[in-house]
Amino acid sequence: MVAFRLPRNSAIETGRRHSTIRGATRTKTFRIYRWNPEDGRNPRIDEFEVDRGKFGPMVLDALIYIKNEIDSTLAFRRSCREGICGSCAMNIDGTNTLACLKPVDEVRGDVRIYPLPHRPVVKDLVPDLNDIYAQYQSVEPWLKATTPPPSRERLQSPEERGRLNGLYECILCFCCSTACPSYWWNGERFLGPAVLLWAYRWIADSRDEATGERLDMLEDPFKLYRCHTIMNCARTCPKGLNPAKAIAEIKKMLVERR
Ligand code: SF4
Ligand code: SF4
Ligand code: FES
Repeated sequence: MVAFRLPRNSAIETGRRHSTIRGATRTKTFRIYRWNPEDGRNPRIDEFEVDRGKFGPMVLDALIYIKNEIDSTLAFRRSCREGICGSCAMNIDGTNTLACLKPVDEVRGDVRIYPLPHRPVVKDLVPDLNDIYAQYQSVEPWLKATTPPPSRERLQSPEERGRLNGLYECILCFCCSTACPSYWWNGERFLGPAVLLWAYRWIADSRDEATGERLDMLEDPFKLYRCHTIMNCARTCPKGLNPAKAIAEIKKMLVERR
């Protein structure tokens, strides 16, 4: 059998242990991935044993508590704290999700936290998403119309507006793309579930007049057709969306126009 090993400088080392539980009646331990590009050391897992009564219900509350009270060098992204901005996406207890929507008490035992998988790491829990944003830009995620704009809004019927449900709610957290095995292996050329969901969001918009051009761009063996309907994307989406369905709709439109 072939044995695979991480390169020596990627092997995860035992990290530091912090405990602040004096007088606590309930405790919780967080095991958090740490890596600092500036210290030249390998990644490590730090352990924080904390008083469960000191912070709110969500994993993000715990991270903010740890950063404010125990280790100010811990790096992670967050903004809205209510599942809207998408910035606190990370891998918690083995699943990609939003730290601000993940209840601490839902995790049995220690809470293991890693950055989104298969992305270069900027620092600690902060992944480098530049490539995915460039792919997002490539699908031109804005209204494209050549007919002169009406004096007021471009109107839609309730049915036309309804076709955007399940699409417009995407917050670009990339939990789905970073959980997709096809994206892990072909991420340079496959656009991945989040970006393809956005491509379809504009194709499905009755006000957009660039459907043909958008489909031409996607008709490519890698950009679209590396999706093999494994469905990790739908399983992991913290907003309950189904990018695989959007991808299937694009494939169907490409077949129908032939
Ligand atoms: S259904 Fe397609 S996009 Fe979703 S995880 Fe599977 S291969 Fe990736
Ligand atoms: S489809 Fe869901 S998981 Fe994917 S980027 Fe949008 S909100 Fe995040
Ligand atoms: S902080 Fe905005 S989605 Fe979690």
